[in-house]
Amino acid sequence: MKKLSIYLFIITFLTTALAACSDSRIYKIGVSQCSQDDWRSKMNDEINREIMLHEDAEVEIRSADDSNPKQISDIRYFADNGFDIIIVSPNEAQALTPIIKEVYESGIPVIIFDRNIIGDSYTAHIGVDDKSIGREAAHYAFHILTEPPKVIEIYGLRGSTPAENRHNGFANELTAGGGKIIASEAGNWNKEEAIPIVDSLLKAHPEANLIYAHNDRMAIAAAEITRRHGRNDIKIIGIDAAPEIGIKAVADSIIDATFLYPTEGHRLIQTALAILKGEPYQREVEIPASSAVDLSNADILLLQNETLTEETRKMKLLKEKIDDYWAKHSSQTSLFYASIAMIVLLFGVFFLVLRSFWQHRRHQMALMERNRLLEEQRDMQKSLNEKLQEATQSKLMFFTNVSHDLRTPLTLISEPVSQLADANNLTPQQHTLIKIADKNVKILRRLINQILDFRKYENGKLDLHLSEIDFGHAINEWMESFYAVARKRDIRLSLDTPAGAPVTGAFDAEKIERIFFNLISNAFKYTPDNGSIHVSYSVENERLTLKVADTGEGISERDLGNIFDRFYQADRIHPRGSGIGLSLVKAFVELHGGTISVKSALNEGSVFTVELPIRHISDTTVATEQNITPEDVATELSGIEADLTFDAAKPLLLIIDDNKDILRLVSELLNTSYNIITATNGRDGIRMATKYVPDLIICDVMMPVMDGMECCRRIKEEISTSHIPILMLTACSMD
Ligand code: FRU
Repeated sequence: MKKLSIYLFIITFLTTALAACSDSRIYKIGVSQCSQDDWRSKMNDEINREIMLHEDAEVEIRSADDSNPKQISDIRYFADNGFDIIIVSPNEAQALTPIIKEVYESGIPVIIFDRNIIGDSYTAHIGVDDKSIGREAAHYAFHILTEPPKVIEIYGLRGSTPAENRHNGFANELTAGGGKIIASEAGNWNKEEAIPIVDSLLKAHPEANLIYAHNDRMAIAAAEITRRHGRNDIKIIGIDAAPEIGIKAVADSIIDATFLYPTEGHRLIQTALAILKGEPYQREVEIPASSAVDLSNADILLLQNETLTEETRKMKLLKEKIDDYWAKHSSQTSLFYASIAMIVLLFGVFFLVLRSFWQHRRHQMALMERNRLLEEQRDMQKSLNEKLQEATQSKLMFFTNVSHDLRTPLTLISEPVSQLADANNLTPQQHTLIKIADKNVKILRRLINQILDFRKYENGKLDLHLSEIDFGHAINEWMESFYAVARKRDIRLSLDTPAGAPVTGAFDAEKIERIFFNLISNAFKYTPDNGSIHVSYSVENERLTLKVADTGEGISERDLGNIFDRFYQADRIHPRGSGIGLSLVKAFVELHGGTISVKSALNEGSVFTVELPIRHISDTTVATEQNITPEDVATELSGIEADLTFDAAKPLLLIIDDNKDILRLVSELLNTSYNIITATNGRDGIRMATKYVPDLIICDVMMPVMDGMECCRRIKEEISTSHIPILMLTACSMD
């Protein structure tokens, strides 16, 4: 998606850039005119007309208004503003030469036209053969006069090259033909300046028969003055033949003749572009002089000029239209490219939107399908749960009923068995067997009682019978029952009693005792010989905290969360209880409004913490009746001791079982025929088998440390023991 956006952006950018970059280089041409007059206007028109034909060039024309400093600053302006070429008609050669030289030497091409400079610091020079013009004028003088010409010369500008050449050409030709310049004065190319000069020269030289002016403006001034003086006989010749002034003056018979001073503005632009584009051009151009314009051709020339003006006007119009069309075309082209870019962009966006819509839709469909499956699974799970719940309930009901049914016969068995166990007329073997029976009847009775209590709790029918008890005193008493078994198994059993006033509170003594009994019994069951069990209790903020910590096997993280669940057995392979004990503890704790938690780490031990709120129902405590006796503890945790006789004539039998009562029972049953040795797990069993090489082995299947199958495999692998027959023994009906 991101990649595609980048491509789209690049395409759009390139399209727009292409549209924008269609323009190529534009040459800037600067034209510095020394003056502004009719002749130069004609030339400027020609320049502008020519530039219309060149799309790659633009021109700026500046007039110095006959001022040298102004023209110097105009030239500098062109040089400083990045003009590619400068075309100059220098006002005065002397004054303008340095700046032109400077610009030329700085690398900007320079074309000198009309008037010249001193030296050749220019790229090209386009001039007119002014000497020829002068000569032609002298010829004409001889032609229109019957007498030798006596000429008053109105000079152009001193220091301006055309004036100098016009004078020289005229003077040479005139003198050669017998004519004479009787007076010569500079009119600085201006009518206004020429008027007083003509006036004074006419007064001073009444013999003059011709006035030769270096341009038409000064010739018209001369015509006005001669007329004022009543000297219509004096012939007047001018130079330039600019249509609006010179030719018109001839056509109107104001002056007698004028000589065409070619403007050729188009040639200037063509030469400039040839220089800029590196095309061939002529460095020195001298345009030849043409013949006189007098009454015989003035009208035609005027007409031609009119036509030319009209054509120029039309051309301008056309150019404007073309420019207009071109501008429209350019904007339309840009618009076209922009539209294409927009369309591409829109397509792109549309595609992206469509794609994301499809993706979204696909995603949504997948989600819906997943949801449907989940719902199906949930419904299935729900109905399964319901069925499970029903099945569990009916199982529990069945258990409860069976437990109820079992309790009465058990009580009836328990009493006679207990009396028999105390009888003193039994053989030692009978005594041992009856003790085993007595112990297991008690265990069975306790289990049944626990199941019934738990069911009562679940059905909300288990009541609390609170009485104010001295907890410290009670726990001391309960602990007493466990010291004997602790001593026997070398387990360090300790109790931490808080300092200060005795801890009293209203508890259900029987249930608290059961909580304690179950927790500490568990600790004993899972703590190996030589381990330690530490009991402590404390009171803070009206809450009693009882902790039972052991250094036993610990509980795995997986089991830790379920340890208080109903019938949960952490060790499913080697269960050491029905799994109801801890559930009942939790139930009793919760009945008291308390909490129970456990912290444990595998092979490090466990700490069970019970927190109970302390309430009071009276000031005086009642003595706790001890329900759990040392005999109960022994029943729960110890095996039954019996005297084993060893007869060298009998075969040797090894019994391997983790249940000490089973060991005892099998031993009792078989000790008349066998010498018996025992082991409580597979590993010890292998050790005994290797050491004693028994004649027969009876081995339990499910055992801690090493199970019976593994034990059997290893005994069979070992050469010294492989011959020993092994009987596998299991209590699990599912095996
Ligand atoms: C125009 C002008 C013309 C003349 C030319 C000489 O400025 O005076 O009349 O022919 O310059 O450079």
